[in-house]
This record gives sequence, structure tokens and C-alpha cells, in this order.
Amino acid sequence: MLRIKSARDPLLEIIGRKHQTILDCTMGMASDSLVMASAGHQVTALESQFLTYFIISRGLATFDSGNPELNKAMQSIKTIHADSLDFLKSAKNNAYDVLYFDPMFSEKITESTNLDGLIELANQQKLTQEMIAEAKRVAREKIIVKAHFRDKVFEEFVFERLVRPNQKFHYGVMRLNGSLLTEVKCE
Ligand SMILES: C[S@@+](CC[C@H](N)C(=O)[O-])C[C@H]1O[C@@H](n2cnc3c(N)ncnc32)[C@H](O)[C@@H]1O
Repeated sequence: MLRIKSARDPLLEIIGRKHQTILDCTMGMASDSLVMASAGHQVTALESQFLTYFIISRGLATFDSGNPELNKAMQSIKTIHADSLDFLKSAKNNAYDVLYFDPMFSEKITESTNLDGLIELANQQKLTQEMIAEAKRVAREKIIVKAHFRDKVFEEFVFERLVRPNQKFHYGVMRLNGSLLTEVKCE
């Protein structure tokens, strides 16, 4: 709710204002999916771990937050129980405008407790060359990654890193088809 009510969110600024089709390849608690859906984007979210998928997708479909707009955004998220690499391999070229990856961090962020309940269940898979190659085929405009600032993923896969001073995680963007990154002002 804090992020949705905030005047600015770095992830939304990277995506831009135009409504996009977004594939969230690492749903987890679906906080990022919900922020993106609340901004009007059409989100499909993948989660490989069945219990996480089951609990979160039921919550998104049935929880009454008391806020009709938030309920609508939760219900708009299409959730799929799937491993993202398997899903990507069977997806068509340019099937989504944006692909988003937020794999488990290589280092624990002690201040971040929102995943604690499901952390034992989480798939610890890191991004691979094969995943990024498939992602480049399936995404039309951008691939976005969230990772710990010390993670090698930015250099390894040549993501443009958006440094967020005093924040332990950074976003990285890979622009495809010459899409521009005009709205990013990360703070
Ligand atoms: C750091 S959490 C994502 C948090 C999420 N962005 C949020 O806002 O709540 C990573 C999640 O992605 C899932 N995951 C990791 N690798 C995956 C894969 N290859 N396919 C599908 N889900 C995956 C993990 O099980 C975990 O639930």
C-alpha cells in the first residue's frame, strides 16, 4: 500500500507510463506484481513453488483489502504455477512488452522481512544465460531485473544498472528494439 500510494516508484518509472503487458517471472509474494497491476499494467506472474503459488494466488483472488481499486488490481493479476524457464521456452516471440525478474538475493537483506514466511519454500535459482536468451526472445521492449547491489548479474548479463543511493537493491534494465528509458529518475 505504501508503494502504491507513493507519488513515485522506481520500478514504475523504469516501465514508463504507457500500459504494458508484463510477465513477472518470479512472483513470490506478488508485491511487485501488485504495484505494476495497480498502475494499470496487465500482469501475468509465474511462481515455480506450488505452496507459494497456491497461497498467493488464492489471496490475490479472494482477499478483500477494503479498497475496491486494490481488490481490482489484485484480481487482475493472472498467476501461473510454472518454472519461468519452462514457461519462456514455450512462449511466442515478443509475447510480452516487459519481462521482470526478482530472483532470491545472493545476500540476505536483514531489513527486508516481507518474504520471511515463504523463504524456506523459495526457489533459489539464479538467472542463467539460457533464461536471458529466452527472455530476449519473448520480451518486446525491456527486461528488468532487481538484485542486491553486490550481485554480479548486472555485469554478467549487461544490464544497465540504475543506482539507488543508500538502497541495498538496484534495478537493471536491458532495452530491446531501441526502447528508450526516458522516465527513470531513481533516488
Ligand atoms: C525474491 S522472491 C520475489 C519477490 C516478489 N518480486 C515480490 O514482490 O513479492 C523470488 C520468488 O521467485 C520464485 N522463483 C525463483 N526462481 C523461479 C523460477 N525459475 N521460476 C518461477 N519462480 C521462481 C521463488 O520461489 C520466490 O518465490
